[in-house]
Amino acid sequence: MTIVIKNAEEIAAMREACRLASEVLDMLTPHVRAGVTTLEIDRLAHDYMVNVQGGVPATLNYQPPGYPPYPASLCTSLNDVVCHGIPDERPLKNGDILNIDVTIIKNGFHGDNSRMFVIGEGSIAARRLCQITYEAMWKGIVKVRPGARLGDIGHAIQTFAENAGFSIVREFCGHGVGRRFHEEPQVLHYGRPGTLEELQPGMIFTIEPMINAGRREIKEDRKGNRPYDGWTIVTRDRSLSAQWEHTVLVTDSGYEVLTLSAGSPPPPAFVTAATAAS
Ligand code: MF3
Ligand code: CO
Ligand code: CO
Repeated sequence: MTIVIKNAEEIAAMREACRLASEVLDMLTPHVRAGVTTLEIDRLAHDYMVNVQGGVPATLNYQPPGYPPYPASLCTSLNDVVCHGIPDERPLKNGDILNIDVTIIKNGFHGDNSRMFVIGEGSIAARRLCQITYEAMWKGIVKVRPGARLGDIGHAIQTFAENAGFSIVREFCGHGVGRRFHEEPQVLHYGRPGTLEELQPGMIFTIEPMINAGRREIKEDRKGNRPYDGWTIVTRDRSLSAQWEHTVLVTDSGYEVLTLSAGSPPPPAFVTAATAAS
């Protein structure tokens, strides 16, 4: 299998799917507060994607080899959950940090993105983890241009996060995205500059670093004696974990972030007009 280079029509379809994915997060934002359950958030998102946006939640019944069908329309990864948290009946409480990851299929194309939410004020440490992770994602995004290599992206993210005293999860990575949810290439969030695949205009992939406040190791979340749900991954040391995700197009001169909408948080100050040129 090889990396799909998208043509103009495919890029137009991806722009729409990705904008819709971002607008789901915009819609959810005022609902993400103490007392609300992640299952309520899931129902709101499901309804919106299907009945308002005319799309399909890509995660619902998604079943890669070796996994059970994923049972919800988005992922909600709370506190020490690294990724793939399944919505449930527990109400959010002040001080929680929550990643919401939405992937929608619209006209056959996937838009994939996630954001962090701090419930209430949040501790300084929790807010810093979320902020550094956001900036780390953008440190990777600004490396995207024809001729750059995937290792440049991973290296930029890794050095920034590790210099801040945090660690990078290795077991999960960004990915090509298009007609399929997970396509080639794998986009590692660590690595060496000048290594791995060379970027070409028309490639579309996600950048979605998972960054831990403590050690980088992870484990399956076995919640006491209950059988594993097949999906939920937590930090092995139970430290907090954060993640942000955008879907990005390689343009002729740089990059275009596709998962943007009115409610997207602004890019960090180091993202200049020059680096953002597309
Ligand atoms: N949206 C996730 C990603 O960024 C994948 C979630 S798969 C699920 O790649 F089945 F857990 F929903
Ligand atoms: Co993704
Ligand atoms: Co995602």
